[in-house]
Order: sequence, then structure tokens, then C-alpha cells
Amino acid sequence: MAATLFLSFFIALGLGVFFVAMRGGPRGVRDTLEAGRRRPLHAAEFAVAAAIALFGLVVPAAVMLSDQASAGPSGETLSAEHKDGREVFNRKCATCHMLDDANAVGLVGPDLDVLAPTAGLTINAIEEGRARGQSQMPALLIEGEEARHVAEYIEHVAGR
Ligand code: HEC
Repeated sequence: MAATLFLSFFIALGLGVFFVAMRGGPRGVRDTLEAGRRRPLHAAEFAVAAAIALFGLVVPAAVMLSDQASAGPSGETLSAEHKDGREVFNRKCATCHMLDDANAVGLVGPDLDVLAPTAGLTINAIEEGRARGQSQMPALLIEGEEARHVAEYIEHVAGR
């Protein structure tokens, strides 16, 4: 994220310089912006306009870029589906399971970083529940797509 912002800043700066050069320098830009105005544009107004233009570029660019796959705490690259899986995990599973990537510290069920279950095992645990040990895991906490995303997410990050 920081790197993205840093990069966008210089892209915006580059575009700014290009724009200024195309208009015949700062004087030319001011003339262009002033066209149709009676009062000359103050330097402060010009700076505000420039700042608005800069953030209009940088912020949307940063948001767009950060929406794409990015690394989680485990350092693994997460796809959009993995991210959805992590979000569901935090809502439905984190109270009972440990998983570093999701910052989950639940102690009721097994530590999933140690178990590192395949997606298939997780789907099975979700569908049928588990009641072999001291405590239980209810069946069907989640279903369908949510279950698949969680299972693939755990397989991707567990133990990393
Ligand atoms: C109420 C607490 C609780 C919640 C919530 C919970 N689990 Fe569990 N989970 C457990 C317990 C307890 C076990 C071990 C049960 C046993 O002894 O068989 C377990 C076992 C597992 C296992 C290992 C299955 C095996 O056969 O070794 C996986 C994988 C698992 N859970 C994934 C999940 C996922 C994914 C979620 C969220 C959808 C979740 N759990 C939600 C308590 C929970």
C-alpha cells in the first residue's frame, strides 16, 4: 500500500509536469485556467486546484490497485476469493481456531497452522461438524461458496 501510494505520487507528479510543459510552463497553465475569469487566479487557489487534481488521481489509483490480490500477514498472495475466505473465517471460525494469517487465536478447536488441513478436509469438517474430542464443532456453520472460499483460503495459508 505504501509503495503504491509512493508510486502513484510520482506518476501524478510526472503527469503534472507534462501538463505544465504542454501549456507553456506555469504561466501558460495559469492563463488557461484563467480564461473566462475576470479576476486573476491567486497562487493559493492554483495550489488548491493542483492538490485536488493530484488527489483525484492518487487516491482512486491507490484504491484500484489495493483492490487487486495482495499479500496477507503470512506473506502469501491472496486472490479475491482467498480474501473473502479470510473475511468469512474471521466471522465464523476465528473464535475457535488459531490461524496466523487471519490473526485468529481461538483455543477451542485445533490450531489450523499445525493441522494445515486440505480444502477437502475442511469442507468435510464444515459439512459434518466434528465431535471427537472434548469440545465440538457444529455442522454447517457456513455453506456453498463461503465454505469453498474458506477451505481454499485455509489450505493456501495454513502453516505458512
Ligand atoms: C464452536 C467452536 C468451533 C467453531 C466456530 C469452528 N470450529 Fe472447527 N473445530 C472445532 C473443534 C472443537 C474441532 C475438533 C473436534 C474434534 O475433536 O473432533 C474442530 C475441528 C476442525 C477441523 C479439523 C477436522 C479434522 O477432521 O481434523 C477443521 C479443518 C476445522 N475445525 C475448520 C473449521 C472452520 C473452517 C470453521 C469455520 C467455518 C470452524 N472450524 C469453526 C471447533 C470449532
